[in-house]
Amino acid sequence: MSGSNSERRLILLGATGSIGRSTLDVLRHLRATGGPRFRLAGVAAGRSADALAVIAEEFAEDQPALALADESADLVVPSAAQGTHATVHRGPDAALQMIEQIARPGDFVMAAMVGFAGLAPTLAAIERGCTIGLANKETLVAAGALVTAAARRRGVALLPVDSEHSAIIQCLRDGSSRGVRRIVLTASGGPFRTWPAERIAQAPVEDALRHPTWTMGAKITIDSATMMNKALEVIEAHWLFDLPADRIEVVVHPQSIVHGFVEFDDGSVLAQLSPPDMRLPIQLALTWPERLDGCTPRLDFDALRSLQFEPVDHERFPAVGLAARVIERGGTAGAILNAANEEAVSAYLRRAVPFGRITALAAEALSAIRSEPIRSLADAERADKAARRFVRERTTTTAPMDATAWTP
Ligand SMILES: NC(=O)c1ccc[n+]([C@@H]2O[C@H](COP(=O)([O-])OP(=O)(O)OC[C@H]3O[C@@H](n4cnc5c(N)ncnc54)[C@H](OP(=O)(O)O)[C@@H]3O)[C@@H](O)[C@H]2O)c1
Repeated sequence: MSGSNSERRLILLGATGSIGRSTLDVLRHLRATGGPRFRLAGVAAGRSADALAVIAEEFAEDQPALALADESADLVVPSAAQGTHATVHRGPDAALQMIEQIARPGDFVMAAMVGFAGLAPTLAAIERGCTIGLANKETLVAAGALVTAAARRRGVALLPVDSEHSAIIQCLRDGSSRGVRRIVLTASGGPFRTWPAERIAQAPVEDALRHPTWTMGAKITIDSATMMNKALEVIEAHWLFDLPADRIEVVVHPQSIVHGFVEFDDGSVLAQLSPPDMRLPIQLALTWPERLDGCTPRLDFDALRSLQFEPVDHERFPAVGLAARVIERGGTAGAILNAANEEAVSAYLRRAVPFGRITALAAEALSAIRSEPIRSLADAERADKAARRFVRERTTTTAPMDATAWTP
């Protein structure tokens, strides 16, 4: 805590993205309703200089530090936001530099950058004793052993923001998986839930980006279409709840109203339900364990006629099964899967590979690259680079880059 007793500092990584914008919405709501006050101490983005400047202007009173990865983008800091505390970091490590400079014990860091790029700043925030709101699942997929060990050592909480994992902590009795037989994560099934395999293999980018229930960034939307998102979430759940792969299940639930189930040893099953809106798990992470007046639509039981569940079709969505392979292999397997998937998604978005190759490339990388023990960030980075190289060598790079596919 800093400033007045009721003020806590918030550092928002990925401020211009879907989760970042929803987090700012929650902040506005908490301010408008007299909720706990968060001072926006820092905001980081990739290349959206204008959007970052707009945030700096709106929250000028907080004088947030700014971090922008893209060095060539023209960032004009509004005069109102230029002050003694407001520093600007530029370059690929801007978010990490900002964390190293401003993060203090007790700050809340919302890790909402997309991809492996979020790992180093999140680890640095943990090392500085910050509470983490974890949207960036790739962090746990790529280096779950390192991240959870650092959090334990520093005594900081990793509060899940992913709606499924938020559902699970809401159902657990005391935050631990004591007495838990299994957990079940729900999946919408994505835009291709009812498509035949041959049509999925050639699915156009426009269709893959049209998610039936959630509005999200491009990378996670494609991950939802392949259902790799669920594989990443199973690995994330393995690290968050310390459960083996065979006690983490996935069920398809097209309405995205039930977000997760916990089954206890006595056979009782608890679930968490809410309309699909990320502002609910974001606010809960920020105010955890308190529940305050929310800003999201409420469930309308008069309109709710049925809840549908169906098993995952592993033939059409083979990505889901890769999670168990990664958990069983351990070491750098998660970093390999994550990086291969990021590269394959990026290649698909710039139309260099068909949809059907995304999961295939990730699986091939996992088979071809040996998993090594993971003892440091450098081990994860080495595996990440090797998997990216593997996929790049197998994808054409002549097609024009899609604007949504940028990675620094
Ligand atoms: N969206 C959801 O509903 C949802 C739900 C659960 C979990 N998640 C997870 O949350 C994370 C963010 O997802 P999203 O949907 O919000 O993605 P998004 O809309 O694509 O936003 C990504 C954010 O990360 C920033 N960024 C990218 N590279 C960066 C870098 N090198 N340094 C600093 N910032 C960087 C982007 O900045 P620019 O805008 O400048 O490029 C943007 O602010 C992902 O890990 C995703 O899996 C998302």
